[in-house]
Amino acid sequence: MNTPTPQPGRVFAFFSCKGGVGTTLLTVTLGYLLAQQWQRRVLVVDWVRPYGDAALWLTSEEPRSDLQELLSQPERLDPTLLRSALLMPQSRLAVLPAAQDGSATIPAGAAQHLLALARHQFDCILCDCGRVQDTLILEVLRCADRLLPLLQPTLPMMRDARRLLATLREAGIAHDRMVPLVNRGPAAPHILQQDMLEQALGSRIRHRLPDAARLARLLHSRAQAEWPKALLHLANALARPQPRQDPMPGLLQRWWRKQWRWNPSSPDQEAP
Ligand SMILES: Nc1ncnc2c1ncn2[C@@H]1O[C@H](COP(=O)(O)OP(=O)(O)O)[C@@H](O)[C@H]1O
Ligand SMILES: [Mg+2]
Repeated sequence: MNTPTPQPGRVFAFFSCKGGVGTTLLTVTLGYLLAQQWQRRVLVVDWVRPYGDAALWLTSEEPRSDLQELLSQPERLDPTLLRSALLMPQSRLAVLPAAQDGSATIPAGAAQHLLALARHQFDCILCDCGRVQDTLILEVLRCADRLLPLLQPTLPMMRDARRLLATLREAGIAHDRMVPLVNRGPAAPHILQQDMLEQALGSRIRHRLPDAARLARLLHSRAQAEWPKALLHLANALARPQPRQDPMPGLLQRWWRKQWRWNPSSPDQEAP
């Protein structure tokens, strides 16, 4: 009997236009949930340079290597070398710690190579990209299946997020892969506020994560805690396998897309 070929893992890039928005906390919490509750093989990669702290949230183990060491010699990078650099807080959860040296140059194409290798070994690759401020992060965003910009619903942040998304669009990064996340907003926003936010970003907001004062503590205590529902909903969406190809061909597909003002995915094909 033929065994089905495993699907390559999916890459999710979390980023923000400002620090302190919750990019790292959400990346690591979702990594933990996907490994623990959805039994996915998860890799968290910390692309923040310098001072990335994703590994610190998940383990007290000392890094043996880091992203910089792996990426500086892409020609040597193979599955064994990748494995040797990973910290394993749990059997299904791996972390690749951030580069210690923020100034070293990383050859173009190295990030793409690393992510291609990781797709063969993991179901979900969660990238903490921090702020989008160099070509390395742009390369990660280009490779990602889903881009998850985080923002808090304040006017300055909405303005900055709008500018960032416009810049990314100009850089050729497809808008239809964007899944904006509102973090620490009110659980039930006013409909006008929601509409304004969606108009500003040019995307639907499907995920709003509440301010959960205990979130960081839950992650550390490893308790079987009551995780916020919105977070579980998002983890569930990330855990789903790659959606099938849209069955609607050519003209019909274009017509359907026109009816839907937000983006080219059809309304019933929930992202991510
Ligand atoms: N939804 C949330 N509820 C409560 N605290 C949060 C939430 N998101 C982030 N935080 C807190 O905000 C602070 C900054 O988060 P962090 O993930 O380090 O931001 P970033 O990586 O974007 O700089 C942390 O202390 C974190 O615990
Ligand atoms: Mg961070």
